[in-house]
Amino acid sequence: MKDSNFLKANNARSMWHPMAHPADSLNTPPTIVTGAHGVRIVDVDGHEVVDAVGGLWNVNLGFSCAPIKAAIAAQLDQLPYYSTFRGTTNDAVIELSEMLRDFFAPDGLERAFYTSGGSDSVETALRLARQYHKIKGQDGRIKYLSLKKGYHGTHFGGASVNGNANFRTQYEPLMPGCHHIPAPYPYRNPFNESDPAKLAQLCLAALEDEIAFQGANTIAAMIMEPILGAGGVIPPHESFMPGVREICTKHGILLIADEVITAFGRTGSWTGSRHWGVQPDFMCTAKAITNGYFPFGAVMIAGSVAEVFENDKTGKAAIGHGYTYSGHPVGAAAAIACLKETERLRVHENAAARGAELFAGLNGLASKYDIIGDVRGGHGLMCAMELVSDQTTKAVIDKSTIARIQDVTYKHGTMVRVSGPNIILSPPLVLTQQDVDTILSSLDAGFQSALA
Ligand SMILES: Cc1ncc(COP(=O)(O)O)c(C=O)c1O
Repeated sequence: MKDSNFLKANNARSMWHPMAHPADSLNTPPTIVTGAHGVRIVDVDGHEVVDAVGGLWNVNLGFSCAPIKAAIAAQLDQLPYYSTFRGTTNDAVIELSEMLRDFFAPDGLERAFYTSGGSDSVETALRLARQYHKIKGQDGRIKYLSLKKGYHGTHFGGASVNGNANFRTQYEPLMPGCHHIPAPYPYRNPFNESDPAKLAQLCLAALEDEIAFQGANTIAAMIMEPILGAGGVIPPHESFMPGVREICTKHGILLIADEVITAFGRTGSWTGSRHWGVQPDFMCTAKAITNGYFPFGAVMIAGSVAEVFENDKTGKAAIGHGYTYSGHPVGAAAAIACLKETERLRVHENAAARGAELFAGLNGLASKYDIIGDVRGGHGLMCAMELVSDQTTKAVIDKSTIARIQDVTYKHGTMVRVSGPNIILSPPLVLTQQDVDTILSSLDAGFQSALA
């Protein structure tokens, strides 16, 4: 590795960072992470902190998962790459497909289509949903519905169903035929309704209204996260996703669960859909499928959808979609080892237990600091705090205050993620009680600094 002087002098000089203004990255250079172990990362100055971001919602098993590292190394030796396009496959991806089929059986998902990450998984599901209807002779079903505040990656299809202007405005025009429903977000919503159950019903009524307006027979699919993640961790009322499922079924609209962050235990259940008792038609996964150690994803497909494709005699079901790295043997080997560890450690149970402690601790901080307008969580290890400059008007906090809180929290031992007015926490699922205490005490120091 180059020495720290070189790294600091050239930090952000010759690269652009995702989700950042290039000038900001030059003015406030990013933290240079040079090592990691357990649930901790180490920066170029040797400062070690708990990573409450969990990489990027993906390092569920922490940074020291030896079986995954060994599986990657062994697979690189045995077969570093071969394609799964028509005519060839590999041993690792066959084994993985059987494992995923078992893992997702309670969700009714029986087939996998492999991708290189979350955005690819979203794109795949959107495309296969249209194709499903075409195979059935319903060529007019081409539109998509989604939630405001939803995040579905940054490909053009995903950005078009995305519910946050930050990922849309500078890239318009986006794909036509994408329509958005209000999110079940009790802290701020157009209905001025703070009761989660009542709000869920209002959002479901808005969904019904939009379907009537568009015409059900023009809509291919509704895509949603079981718990809105990047949009600020917004868990809906328990009636919401089952309600969406019911409405979609009634109108012949496919339900795509975007579980790029919620699959594999983060919510305290093995999947977000299972958390709410829902079986989707497609499920997008990525991230924790390899613990973030290899770029990989899988779209899981319901048995009923698979049947339509596999029984087709017209040729319309031939899949004209896929990636060079679909079913990459190294990714598949990583995913096999990751799934074994994920199940062996039963990380969903620890996510639920540690998540409850973290959520309680954050609520404790909220009673101490007026700057915390809303605390969201209570479903595994995904939590957020929305910061405001005024509790009554809910005026959004200024960027410099939240940046200071993040900085001081880091200095006191925890990396947290800031997204707009939100501090988002998505730590590894192997977190201990002591790690939870570290996160809370670091945040306490961060909020103290905002008072100064
Ligand atoms: C719900 C959801 N969908 C899709 C994506 C996009 O995944 P990727 O960044 O791997 O393309 C993300 C990323 O955070 C996500 O949270």
